[in-house]
Order: sequence, then structure tokens, then C-alpha cells
Amino acid sequence: MSDERLFTFRNRWFTVSVLGTIAIAAVAALIGFVWLPTAQRDAPFTGIWNAICSAAGVPREWYAGGGTTVEPKVKLTSVEMTPQLLSNVSANSIGRGATLALRCTMCHGERGMSDANSPNLAGQYASVIYKQLIDFQKGARTNAVMSPMAMNLSDQDMRDLAAYYSSLPRPPAQRKVSEALAPPIVAHGAPMRNIAPCAACHGGIDNKAGSPWLDGLPAAYTKAQLIAFANGTRTNDIDGVMRNVARNMTPEEIDAAAAYYAREGNAK
Ligand code: HEC
Ligand code: HEC
Repeated sequence: MSDERLFTFRNRWFTVSVLGTIAIAAVAALIGFVWLPTAQRDAPFTGIWNAICSAAGVPREWYAGGGTTVEPKVKLTSVEMTPQLLSNVSANSIGRGATLALRCTMCHGERGMSDANSPNLAGQYASVIYKQLIDFQKGARTNAVMSPMAMNLSDQDMRDLAAYYSSLPRPPAQRKVSEALAPPIVAHGAPMRNIAPCAACHGGIDNKAGSPWLDGLPAAYTKAQLIAFANGTRTNDIDGVMRNVARNMTPEEIDAAAAYYAREGNAK
């Protein structure tokens, strides 16, 4: 046994270990904070300081044109959907809406039930109608017929129209989401393709705020909307919720869902 003290710089082994540890830490820091970040050519991680900041996760102006936000390529909705939006409509509003709706009957039917392939509005959620009208007006959703129709409506007009149509009796639900009636895509979705059951948002299982009432919609309309979501011509769904669903559907599933909501499958 020697009584030599271990932790002192007079001990050569101690000095070597300390210096060695410091050297390893310095090399690791150089690799992690400087070499690896600068090896990335995609973003401008140029300069040692930017490289260090990027490795440490400190936001600096690494990105080209620093400071500017990324603009989406398509126009997105400006509406914030909450369960409270237009949840209480007044009789006055409904009355005013009924008068305003005279110019809509030509296509959406006298009581909001369309005979043509326009969507029904009778009993549609007020928040949905209001949102769609704003989206048409602001260009987040475009349609040759509806965009000009919405152009001159005031915010109050849109609220009143929404109140009126939502007060009309809606086409009854085909609410049996049992397997026999609903196609699998409606009742179960397709988990492997990240599709939640339609009924989880559109009613039957649950209703999520902002999800339209689909029962009774003409099959041609439902199909056209699903295709428009899938190919990105309709982009007003918040967070791409419907684009992500529709993009992953097969043509057969689109037909099956459209037919189911139009009640065409009833006889079978
Ligand atoms: C000339 C026919 C026509 C007239 C008039 C018309 N619409 Fe439409 N409307 C349509 C069509 C067609 C669509 C489907 C658009 C699409 O395919 O994207 C539509 C869609 C809508 C939608 C979206 C429905 C949904 O389920 O997403 C709302 C809301 C709407 N119209 C409200 C109105 C209101 C309110 C008026 C009157 C101020 C009106 N429309 C007048 C033809 C018309
Ligand atoms: C996670 C919730 C969610 C799921 C799951 C979902 N949807 Fe939707 N869907 C929405 C929302 C929200 C909207 C309204 C988009 C907007 O704001 O324009 C919508 C809109 C639609 C529309 C347009 C309706 C109209 O009146 O314009 C159709 C058609 C539709 N969904 C069909 C389906 C089908 C079919 C499925 C199942 C394969 C499905 N959705 C699954 C939330 C959902």
C-alpha cells in the first residue's frame, strides 16, 4: 500500500485522465456542434455560430430568407371551427335567412332539399353552412356557381342563411352503422391506410365539430367532393383532415361511401 494521493495533478495518471476526458469532450463537441451540422447541405447552416445554434436547437436565421413564414401553396380556410360556433340561432336570424334563401332555392331546393346534384342544405349544421359560405367568399373553396353566389353576402347574411337552413328538417339518418348496412370504410375505416371510420366524424359513431351531415347527399356530389379532396382541388378542410382521408381511399371505397350516404344501398 502506498499513501500516494490519487486526486492531485502531481499524480501523472490523474493529469492524463483529466486532460484526456477534456480532449474527448472537446472533440465530441466539435463533431456534434460544428462538423455534423455543417455537413448538412440542404439548409443554410453556414458559419460556425449558426451550426452550433442549430445543433443546440436554438432557432436562429438558418433558413433561407430567414424571418419570412412559409406560405401555403393553396388558399386555406380562415374559419376557426368550435363546437360553440352558431350553436344557438335566434328566431329572428332564421326569419331573415328564409328571405335571403329565396335566391338559393333554384339549386338547393325550396326547403333545402336539392333535386339536382347540388348538396342538400336542410338540417345541415349551421356552423358547416356558415364556414362553407365564408370559404367560398374568401376563395378557400372554389366553385363556378357558388363562388359568385357568396361574394356579396355580409357576415350577418351568412349567419342568417346558416340559421335558416339548419332549422329545416334534415334527411333522416341511415344511422345503422352495423356491418350489414354500412360499407366497411364507413363503419371501420381502413386503419392500415390511416383512415378513421367516416362515422367517427360524420355521425353514426360520433360527430366532430365541422363535419357536415352527409346522409341524403346526392351520391354524385359526395363522390365529386371526395375526388376533389383526394386530388387537392378542394383544400378548405382544416388541417387537411379530409384530404388525408380521401387521398388514401380506393375508387371502390369512394363509390361505396357515396352510395351509402345517398341511401342507394338501402334496397340490398
Ligand atoms: C345556380 C345554382 C346554385 C345557387 C343559386 C346556389 N347554390 Fe349553393 N351550391 C351549388 C352547387 C353546385 C354547390 C356544390 C359546389 C361544389 O361542388 O363544390 C353548392 C354548394 C353550397 C354549399 C356547400 C354545401 C356543403 O355541403 O358543403 C352551401 C353552404 C351553399 N351552396 C349555400 C348556398 C346559399 C346560401 C345560396 C343562396 C345565397 C346558394 N348556395 C345558391 C349551387 C347553387
Ligand atoms: C376526422 C374526422 C373525419 C373523418 C374520419 C372523415 N371526415 Fe369527412 N369531413 C370532415 C370534416 C371536418 C369535413 C368538413 C371540411 C370542410 O371544412 O370543408 C368533412 C367533409 C366531408 C365531405 C364534404 C361534404 C360537403 O357537404 O361538402 C365529404 C363528402 C366527406 N367528408 C366524406 C367523408 C367520408 C366518405 C369519410 C370516410 C371515408 C370521411 N368523410 C371521414 C371530417 C372527417
